[in-house]
Amino acid sequence: MRLELAIILPTLNERDNIAPLVTRLHGALGETGWEAIFVDDDSKDGTAEEVRRIAQFDKHIRVIHRIGRRGLASAAIEGMCATAAPFVAVMDADHQHDPKLLLPMLESVRSGEADIAVASRFISGASVTGLSSDAREKNSRFANALARKLTGTDLSDAMSGYFLLPAVTLRAQAGRLSGIGFKILLDILGSAHEPLKVKEFALEFAERATGESKLDHGVGLDFLVGLYERYLGRYIPTRFALFGTVGSLGVGVHMAVLTLLYLALSDAFILAQSVATFTAMTFNFWLNNFLTYRDQKLRGIKQILTGWLSFCITCMIGAVANVGVASLLQERGVYWWGAALIGITLGSVWNYALSSRFVWGR
Ligand code: GDD
Ligand code: MN
Repeated sequence: MRLELAIILPTLNERDNIAPLVTRLHGALGETGWEAIFVDDDSKDGTAEEVRRIAQFDKHIRVIHRIGRRGLASAAIEGMCATAAPFVAVMDADHQHDPKLLLPMLESVRSGEADIAVASRFISGASVTGLSSDAREKNSRFANALARKLTGTDLSDAMSGYFLLPAVTLRAQAGRLSGIGFKILLDILGSAHEPLKVKEFALEFAERATGESKLDHGVGLDFLVGLYERYLGRYIPTRFALFGTVGSLGVGVHMAVLTLLYLALSDAFILAQSVATFTAMTFNFWLNNFLTYRDQKLRGIKQILTGWLSFCITCMIGAVANVGVASLLQERGVYWWGAALIGITLGSVWNYALSSRFVWGR
């Protein structure tokens, strides 16, 4: 049978949801030519193995097992580029998205009625029991109002993680998508050359079946980042800009702690400077985890402790390099101000490069 539709299912620790989901996909898709591609980021609970186990007997099922990578958006993009099917859908693997919508969505795009079909939690007939709190629901609605401004497209659920479009549309713009965070639909709508015609489908956003959510919902932040990416991201990469911003806040923290201690301890400069350095590093680690790497956040006491330790080590080496290079340049006659700036830039690039690989790279 001809392959029509690929359903891309990013997964991170969803083992127990896989088998029931495959059953539901069969039920919803029947005789259509389809495949489901699970894109797993090396889940520790054995999600990828579970998919392989099923795939040995079910040729509809495939797995992309990514090692040393993280991120919902990049997983979705990679999955969508890995199929020969003319239509691709992205869907959550935790049963919050009902596979029953897939065929009507496919029909609307195949017939040309829409360029992209989006399952919405906010049109009439939809429901949001799966949004765990009122606050989260409010955030979502607010985000959508902003999204309309950003993409010029009128849709009620720009943060939806459930949509379907022709594979060529996606491939044509895959190089322009950022792959950061989880606002991938917004990204697709925003980077299309011609505005895409959207058709929305009412989704009953269910409770997740088992396991826990991996995303947090600082949606306001996501939009600031989205705006930045759109207009400035090609000059200075978004993550580096965030990392640098956090770094400069860290300098503020450092100076505040230093001043307080230096005054209180009268003259114990080395002690004050050490405590300030340590506090600033800890502050930077926390804020980077919260902001710069929020899509691959370290969680749980073990991850946080090892992450914090490797961050401190990275930054200390960075600081040595910074001071070393700056003093060398200054000795060679470079104006002290310029020497300091070059040292700082070098230290930051070092810190960024190493921590993105070894602290948050897993
Ligand atoms: N490969 C991969 N890598 N998959 C991931 C990652 C990751 O880093 N993070 C999450 N996932 C998978 C989960 O396993 C799940 O199948 C799906 O992506 C959605 O993740 P959840 O953790 O369940 O997200 P949520 O339910 O809080 O968020 C949903 O609603 C948001 C809007 O409120 C998702 O549909 C989002 O896409 C949506 O923006
Ligand atoms: Mn979910």
